[in-house]
Parts: sequence; structure tokens; C-alpha cells
Amino acid sequence: MSDIEDLEIQLLLEALYQRYHYDFRHYARASIKRRLTQARSQLGFSSVSAMQDRVLHDPSMLPRLLGFLTVQVSEMFRDPSYFRALREKVVPHLRTYPSLKVWIAGCSSGEEVYSLAILFREEGLYDRTIFYATDINPEALAAAEAGVYDLDRIRKFTENHQKSGGKSSLSDYYTAAYGRAAFDKSLRNRVVFSDHSLVTDAVFAEMHLISCRNVMIYFDRPLQDRAIGLFRESLTRKGFLGLGSKESLRFSAHAAAFSEFAAAEKIYQRRES
Ligand SMILES: C[S@@+](CC[C@H](N)C(=O)[O-])C[C@H]1O[C@@H](n2cnc3c(N)ncnc32)[C@H](O)[C@@H]1O
Repeated sequence: MSDIEDLEIQLLLEALYQRYHYDFRHYARASIKRRLTQARSQLGFSSVSAMQDRVLHDPSMLPRLLGFLTVQVSEMFRDPSYFRALREKVVPHLRTYPSLKVWIAGCSSGEEVYSLAILFREEGLYDRTIFYATDINPEALAAAEAGVYDLDRIRKFTENHQKSGGKSSLSDYYTAAYGRAAFDKSLRNRVVFSDHSLVTDAVFAEMHLISCRNVMIYFDRPLQDRAIGLFRESLTRKGFLGLGSKESLRFSAHAAAFSEFAAAEKIYQRRES
């Protein structure tokens, strides 16, 4: 990729920030470059600058660009051993609180939200919990709120649920019709879906558990530290933070504020002080 294209990318990211307050300037640059190159060719622009010109003047272009800039891969009970560790190791601690707050940061189209809602339901904690499900992509948030997934994904979700130690049948929670599975409304009556950016927004409540999986992997190191700083600030003492399998607190400026709770599953606990 030429130096000019690097400059064009920098200018486009600046334009997105100045015009729409979406800040991708400190995302891992290699992946942003790949995604913008894809966007340019698939949307039929001759250059990144041409794409910048369009998005500056035409807000309807923004969601399409966001679709390229944010990665929406997800699945229910993704990495079942993570959910098993939550169930077997974290839930016994959570049970000691009369009311709970859980933040799913970067919830994409909701697969992780419904997984946690089902796990909490199975463990008898659902009714005392408020879940905050946040993301920067409005289309993903709308899909999360709808809770409807293609039926051909359900076999994998069911397998993951069982591997995670599921105590019920996943089919208890959805209705299948026309090739789609619609998850039960009762799984989201305690979920607040909201637009929130780990890059530009502040903390909004005190949490007992934060699950932020496969989001910070797209950030550069200083930005990862900003997000981890938010989690540190938001977690109650002895609160839990779960990350994705390729993520870690090891190199973070905030590492000392956490202890490893279930190290293999990237589950951390905030220290008392
Ligand atoms: C790969 S998905 C992860 C979904 C889910 N957590 C999982 O592990 O299956 C990454 C999500 O992070 C969201 N995201 C990206 N930047 C974000 C930011 N600054 N603040 C909050 N969410 C962000 C994306 O829109 C996307 O939905």
C-alpha cells in the first residue's frame, strides 16, 4: 500500500471523527487498512479520498462504512469453556449479591447477551440482574434487540450451550419459523440496549461483571488501556472482567488493579483497593 493511501486513510478516519464522532483513529491500523481497502473496492470507489468525500456529504453512507469498519463475527456461547468458568467459578460469588449489574461491552448482534441471559436464568440469577448491552454499531444493536438468528446457526449454538454446562435445552428459549429462530422476549426484559463507545464515552454504572470479548483486539495499546481503565472504574470491588480468548490484561497499565481469577478463560477480578 502506498504512502498516499496511508495518508488518505488517516484523513478519512479524521473526517469520520470530526463529522460523526466515530473514532477509529486508534484502532489497530493494519486491520483498518484491510477493511477500508475492501470497502473501497466493494463500494466501487476509485480511491479512499473519494470515499471520504462521499461520507462527509452523505450521512446515509455512514452505516455502510461502519459495516466494514466494525467486525460483527459472534456466536452464542462462543468459547464454551469461558461460559462454563463463569457458571462454575464466578456465579457462586455473584449469588452472594441481592442485585446484580452486568455489562456486555461490544455486544454485536446479541449472541453474547442471550447466552448470558440464559446462563443467568439457568442459575436462578436472571431476575435480580440488569444487563447493559452496548455497541457502537446501530445495525448490530437493532439486531441484538430483535434476537432473531438464522436457523442454520442454531445447531452450533446448541452444541456450545451444552458444552458450556447448559442445564436446559436451548430450544426452550426460541421459536423457529421461516428459517429463523426468534429468541424469547423474556430473555431481554432486563436488558438495556444502548449505543456506547469504549473510545469516546464514560462509565455509566457500577458493575459486578463486565464481559468484553473480541473487541479490544481491534484497538491499539493506548486505546486498550483506555477501555480497561473504564472497566476498572466501573467494576465494583471484587467485580469480574471477562475478555476474549486472544485478549489479556498482561501488558496493561491497569494490570495491577486486577488478579487472575480463571486465567485460562481470561477472567479477571478487580482487587479490593
Ligand atoms: C467481533 S464483535 C464481538 C462480539 C461479541 N462480544 C463476541 O465476542 O462474540 C466486536 C464488536 O465490537 C464492537 N465495537 C467496535 N468498536 C467499539 C467501541 N469503540 N465501543 C464499543 N463497541 C465497539 C463492534 O461494533 C462489534 O459489534
